[in-house]
Amino acid sequence: MKKIRTLTGITTTGTPHLGNYVGAIRPAIQAINPDNEAFYFLADYHGIIKCHEPERIHRSTLEIAATWLACGLDPAKAHFYRQSDIPEIMELTWVLNCLCTKGLMNRAHAYKGAVADNEAKGLEDLDHGITMGLFSYPVLMSADILMFNANKVPVGKDQIQHLEMARDVAQKFNYTFKEVFTMPEAVVSEETELLQGLDGRKMSKSYNNTIPLFEPEKKLRKLIMKIKTNSQEPGEPKETVDSTLYHLYKAFATPDEVADIEKRYAEGIAWGEMKQILFEKINDEIAPMRAEYEKLMAQPAYIEAVLKAGAERIRPMSRALLADVRKAVGISALG
Ligand code: TRP
Repeated sequence: MKKIRTLTGITTTGTPHLGNYVGAIRPAIQAINPDNEAFYFLADYHGIIKCHEPERIHRSTLEIAATWLACGLDPAKAHFYRQSDIPEIMELTWVLNCLCTKGLMNRAHAYKGAVADNEAKGLEDLDHGITMGLFSYPVLMSADILMFNANKVPVGKDQIQHLEMARDVAQKFNYTFKEVFTMPEAVVSEETELLQGLDGRKMSKSYNNTIPLFEPEKKLRKLIMKIKTNSQEPGEPKETVDSTLYHLYKAFATPDEVADIEKRYAEGIAWGEMKQILFEKINDEIAPMRAEYEKLMAQPAYIEAVLKAGAERIRPMSRALLADVRKAVGISALG
């Protein structure tokens, strides 16, 4: 039986935070099993769309790779690679660009968001500062996915539209030339969207409310002490629904532990104590990985070798697919 292929990419522009861990990294690693074939990659060409700081791209690539390995990703059990090590993805991107209509890209959320920002600023040129990279980025993402004939693509809600676009362009290719591509499907988990940040809004780099995953223990503690609570006193019964502390606790605790904490809320647990409990819960899970992360960060050459080996293992697939694509569109040897 053919294994289900799961594929997802991580843009290399930031330092992983707890939201990334709970929403993407932990479930992706748990989802690796002998019945599926996982493709997890560092989307460094996506990274340069908005970030033009080479140091940051470079550093983030190392940090993200070290994070996934430290969190338990076994490169023998999943394909773990860097997008730029598969040059066929870039070539496929161009071919797909030649099939994807501009009108479809006009509807992409990222592009429409950038236009809306320009409009709000009162700019006359609504496309001001919008690069072709930003505009056509769903095509690059389609190439990532279609290159390995992925069946399932775990993503955040904001990426569902990109999967529709990938299917659209795949269908167009299959119809125009030859049945080459598999139709991919988005898989959106509830967890992905839910983790709250320091201020109670969704944990996100853009809100500046994140807790970096591998912050040293002391700093982690300090950040957790900063989480917003209401002004209820110790002894006053408290609600769990609107409590960021409870919400974060739930992402790390067992159902029994959660039930216990619910009782403590009803009994009026003090916020200070809850913060301490939360810190310990998170730190217990993170501490061993943090140690591993620090070890890995000191061995960039090892990480480089892991990524390179990951890419080399799947390049026979990308070469074969690209050969098929080139032939289908009429680019092949003349004799
Ligand atoms: N665009 C995705 C994000 O911002 C990252 C990404 C790039 C991706 N290529 C992908 C996700 C392919 C899934 C499949 O989150």
